[in-house]
Order: sequence, then structure tokens, then C-alpha cells
Amino acid sequence: MRILSYPLAKRSIIAAKKMGLPGLTQTWRTRLATFTGVLIILLGCSLVTRPQTTHERKTGWVGNPGPAQPVAFYHQVHVSELHIPCAYCHWTAATSREANIPPVETCWGCHKNISITHPEIAKVRKYYLSAQPIPWVRVNQQPDYVHFSHTAHVSANVPCATCHGEVGKMLVVSQPIEMNMGWCVTCHRSNEKRFHPKKAAVDCYTCHY
Ligand code: HEC
Ligand code: HEC
Ligand code: HEC
Ligand code: HEC
Ligand code: HEC
Repeated sequence: MRILSYPLAKRSIIAAKKMGLPGLTQTWRTRLATFTGVLIILLGCSLVTRPQTTHERKTGWVGNPGPAQPVAFYHQVHVSELHIPCAYCHWTAATSREANIPPVETCWGCHKNISITHPEIAKVRKYYLSAQPIPWVRVNQQPDYVHFSHTAHVSANVPCATCHGEVGKMLVVSQPIEMNMGWCVTCHRSNEKRFHPKKAAVDCYTCHY
């Protein structure tokens, strides 16, 4: 800490001298300067870690109704009533790290003919015609330091509902299961045999790197 704050300390001493604090002894000046330096560093750290707070707010949907979305899209209508498979809209879940959210073109493929007078479809139409993506609000989001991969789980036949709950029965998507580290590790530990022989199920590097 001393080394880190040295240039700051030096500058603060000069500043203290300029401010006319002659009564202070050398050690007190140094202490004051170190204190100021540490304060600045701590302030810097708190600014750097700020996005974490945003993440925590974003994933605060556990046990709460999901966020209000720009278009009232209901999974229940499309999945339970119309039997549209998840993969029709989230086609990258099986092959990529990230599961895609369907672009407005996917909606328009059906809705250019279906429910065109519905006020929510009027919104979809507006986004489509102005070539603007629908600004969906994210529900599930892990911090940047967590490595998660959909394809690893979908190809190991872990059902979507194990992690996301029965999305097909929800009107607005929420987060019924808190996907924290303990939860991930518990399942990995009990599935150790399903992992490829060279891959460690609960090694820190499996999920953090
Ligand atoms: C007709 C298209 C469509 C189908 C079918 C569909 N979804 Fe979605 N899904 C969406 C759209 C659009 C969103 C973004 C808006 C929202 O959150 O409701 C979304 C959001 C989600 C989210 C939340 C994403 C986030 O922000 O974290 C999950 C989880 C999800 N879907 C899972 C599923 C599952 C599981 C199925 C099948 C049971 C499914 N979806 C079927 C269109 C679809
Ligand atoms: C495979 C075709 C298909 C796709 C893709 C599709 N829908 Fe639908 N959607 C339907 C049908 C069919 C209905 C039911 C119409 C009815 O019952 O009158 C519907 C109903 C709706 C409704 C009205 C729901 C209600 O009853 O209140 C909204 C809003 C809607 N869809 C939005 C979307 C959005 C947004 C997307 C893109 C993420 C989307 N849909 C994708 C076929 C589709
Ligand atoms: C092992 C648990 C697990 C399974 C199984 C799973 N998901 Fe996810 N899903 C997650 C996590 C964790 C996130 C947040 C990922 C992130 O922030 O990096 C997520 C995020 C999403 C998102 C938001 C976009 C994204 O990729 O971040 C969608 C959409 C989604 N999942 C759909 C699905 C669908 C559809 C299935 C089934 C085909 C599925 N998920 C299976 C855990 C899972
Ligand atoms: C319901 C059980 C279950 C849960 C919950 C779960 N996983 Fe997994 N995970 C698995 C299985 C099974 C595999 C596949 C192992 C294989 O095929 O090698 C896997 C594989 C992975 C892999 C790929 C490992 C590799 O080296 O290829 C990562 C990364 C991963 N999981 C991260 C996570 C994270 C992060 C979470 C929590 C957000 C999580 N998992 C939650 C069961 C689970
Ligand atoms: C199967 C996946 C997985 C494994 C293995 C794993 N973690 Fe995590 N870790 C996560 C997830 C997901 C989070 C973020 C979610 C949460 O718990 O808040 C996390 C969060 C963390 C955090 C931040 C905690 C906080 O409260 O901010 C630390 C530190 C951490 N992990 C350390 C480790 C160490 C050390 C190991 C090895 C002993 C390890 N992790 C193994 C998935 C994993």
C-alpha cells in the first residue's frame, strides 16, 4: 500500500504545503498524505466494481414477477397453447454458449398475417417497419467472471426447465430458480460421471477464467 500510494502521498504533501499547513510535522504530513492516497484508491476500487451492482439488480427477479417488457409477449400462449418448440425461437441454445432471443423478423414471419389488429402486434409492426430491434429486458444474467455455456448443458440433455422453470407456462418470464454458485456446483458434483474424463466438474476453472 505504501508503494502504491507513494506518488499520491508525495503529491498530497506538496498540496498540504501549498495549503499552508506548516504546523504539521513531517510524520503527520506523511500520515495525512497516505490516508488521502488510500481514500482515493478505495474510491477508485468502488467505481471499478460498480457494474457488479447493476448485475445484482438485473438478476433480482428470483421469486418476483419478471420485468415489464416492451411488448407483452406471452410464452404461455406460444408454447402451451400453440405448441411452438423452444428451438423455433431460441435456436442457438443447442449449438452456442448463448441462447438467442428471436429477432423481430421471427415474430413478423407469423404476425404479418396473425392478430394484426392486436395493439401489441401494432408495436411489433412498428419495430419491424423501422428496422429497430425490440428492446427486450434481460431476465437471467450471470456476472462477466462466470463462464456458462448452453450447448454444454443442452447436449448433455439437461432440460431448459431444470434451470429456467416452466417458461412455457409463464405469461411474463421470471426466474423461479436462483442460479448461484452453490446450485451450479451441487449439480456438477452429482453429475461428475457425465463429464468428459479430462474435464473437471467442480474445478474453479470450469466456470471462472
Ligand atoms: C415464439 C417465440 C418463442 C418461443 C417459442 C419461446 N420463446 Fe423464450 N423468449 C422469446 C422472447 C421474444 C423472449 C424475450 C422476451 C421475454 O423475456 O419474454 C424470450 C425469453 C426467454 C427467456 C428469458 C431470457 C432472459 O432474458 O434471460 C427464457 C429463459 C426463455 N425465453 C426460455 C424459453 C423456453 C424454455 C421455451 C420453450 C419452453 C421458450 N423460451 C419458447 C421467444 C420465444
Ligand atoms: C409460429 C408463429 C408465431 C410466431 C413466430 C410468433 N407468434 Fe405471436 N401469436 C401467434 C398466434 C397463432 C397467436 C394467437 C392468435 C390468437 O389467438 O388470436 C399469437 C399471439 C400473440 C400475441 C397476442 C397474445 C394475446 O392473446 O394476448 C402477441 C402480443 C404476440 N403473439 C407476440 C409475438 C411476438 C412479440 C413474437 C416474436 C417474439 C411472436 N408473437 C411470435 C403465432 C406466432
Ligand atoms: C444448466 C442450466 C441451464 C439450462 C439447461 C438452460 N439454461 Fe438458459 N440460461 C442459463 C443461465 C445461467 C443463463 C444466463 C447466462 C449468462 O448470463 O451468461 C441463461 C440465459 C438464457 C437466455 C438469455 C440469453 C443468454 O443466453 O444469456 C435464454 C433465451 C435462455 N437461457 C434460454 C434457454 C433455453 C431455450 C434452454 C433450453 C433449450 C435453456 N436456456 C437451458 C441456464 C440454463
Ligand atoms: C442440472 C445440472 C447442472 C446445473 C444446474 C449446472 N450444470 Fe453445468 N454441466 C452439467 C452437465 C451434465 C454438463 C456436461 C458435462 C459434459 O458433457 O462434459 C455441464 C457442463 C458445464 C460446462 C462445460 C464444461 C466443459 O469443460 O465443457 C460449464 C462451463 C458449466 N457446466 C457451467 C455451469 C454453470 C456456470 C452453472 C450455473 C450457472 C451450471 N453449469 C449449472 C450439469 C449442470
Ligand atoms: C459449476 C460452476 C462453478 C464452479 C465450479 C465454481 N464457481 Fe464460483 N461462481 C459460479 C457462479 C455462477 C457465480 C456467480 C453467482 C453467485 O453465486 O452469485 C460464482 C461466484 C464466485 C465468486 C464471487 C462470489 C460473490 O459473492 O461475489 C467467487 C469468489 C467464486 N465464485 C470463486 C470460486 C472458486 C474459488 C471456485 C473453485 C473452488 C469456484 N468459484 C468454482 C460458478 C462456479
